[in-house]
Amino acid sequence: MNQINLKEQVNIIREAFGYINQFKGATFVIKLDSTLIEHPFFSLVIKDIALLHHMGIKIVIVPGARQRIDEILKAFHVRCRIVNGTRITSPGAIPFIKMAAFDVSNKIMTLLAENNTHGIIGNWAKARGIGVINGINYQNSGIIEKVNSDIVKTVLDQGMIPIFPNIGWSAKGKPYNISSNELAATISQELRAAKLFFLADFEGITANTYKLPRNVQVTADGIISRMNVTEAEKMLELNSSRKHDFKMELISLAHKACTEGVQRVHIVDGRGEGMILKEIFSSRGWGTMIYANDFENIRPMQHADIGEVLHIMQPSIKERSLLPRTAEELETNMEDYVVFEIDGAIHGCGALHIHSSDQAEVAALAVDSAQANQGIGSKLMKYLLQKARAAKCKEVFVLTTQAPDWFSKAGFKEASVLSLPESKKKQYNKNRNSLVFTYSLKRKARQRRLRVE
Ligand code: ARG
Repeated sequence: MNQINLKEQVNIIREAFGYINQFKGATFVIKLDSTLIEHPFFSLVIKDIALLHHMGIKIVIVPGARQRIDEILKAFHVRCRIVNGTRITSPGAIPFIKMAAFDVSNKIMTLLAENNTHGIIGNWAKARGIGVINGINYQNSGIIEKVNSDIVKTVLDQGMIPIFPNIGWSAKGKPYNISSNELAATISQELRAAKLFFLADFEGITANTYKLPRNVQVTADGIISRMNVTEAEKMLELNSSRKHDFKMELISLAHKACTEGVQRVHIVDGRGEGMILKEIFSSRGWGTMIYANDFENIRPMQHADIGEVLHIMQPSIKERSLLPRTAEELETNMEDYVVFEIDGAIHGCGALHIHSSDQAEVAALAVDSAQANQGIGSKLMKYLLQKARAAKCKEVFVLTTQAPDWFSKAGFKEASVLSLPESKKKQYNKNRNSLVFTYSLKRKARQRRLRVE
């Protein structure tokens, strides 16, 4: 294996360990799309879930049954109408719906057994009928009232995986056909789960299908990578005319869950191998995440960060876009440095050296290559400019050999070496021949938004 691959692998392992520590003992509720259950990789999905369970994560599974219900109703020649995505369940259909719901739950229990894991199917969801809406009688289709979370917690504490079929019972024991997406969302809220997963049979929320709030993070494959609660709310508002679009329904459930105590909701394609693991154990993830808690943060560098910061600078130093730095130098100028962290791990750095009340220098800007093209450099730059403003500097300058385009896109203007402060002019290395770029903080007009994202 070559050095680069080895380094990447070490980085991946380090990152995974950070998340293992973070999620040990946490509760994850996982809704599995019904079509996945027939997918050739499905046994691997359950294997991965069993792995998470054995690692100390408390897992709850909600299997979707839509496809199985369709098959069983067809086999027994029972017809049910679907209105706005909800199946109208006649009393005659309910035994077949139960058959399908328990059949998929059983399948999961069997696969868990193959992985040396105990699953238990239960009647822990209370429901009532939807009733009559706009003249339509929904009959035995129900909505969830509550989940008996005390019992579910006891089951989890016993080291078992609770499996929820998509059936809810009234206080008198009448069964209702309920939505497994809504069920999973309710369970996650009542258990105050750290995560709710919608393991789907599509690749996440595609950006070009919807109207998006500004600055939403989209992957190179066109999938929305993440949205905080405010962005998710904005997206729901912008696409309110598509209320019954099934992906918007997921965003709506995710948004609600995040406002009711769930930290993160992930919509992930379950068809690819190891997707759930990639989503959980990497900071970049592999699907669409709606999140309520802190994800990324810029803060001053501390002594303990120096090793990691040097590590992030290394590739740029090697390709000569950054000057070499030592731990002692970083230590001496500690208060100049800031770090960009994601889930507590450092992925970027930068420094602001104040030379005089007029001039400050942005330096040592570097971003972990695994996090490239996510706007981290731009966020660090904004932060450093803000720091310069707070220090009442009039101008910020930067010396660059490799990134003139990036700086001019960010609003910097090329300038002469003569514009540098005296001390810097003296140090200027003619052989290196860096370009000088400046950014004026003087006029209001300059305070417009940075254009590099
Ligand atoms: N691994 C982290 C988590 O599970 C972050 C996932 C980020 N995912 C994303 N689609 N942007 O919380």
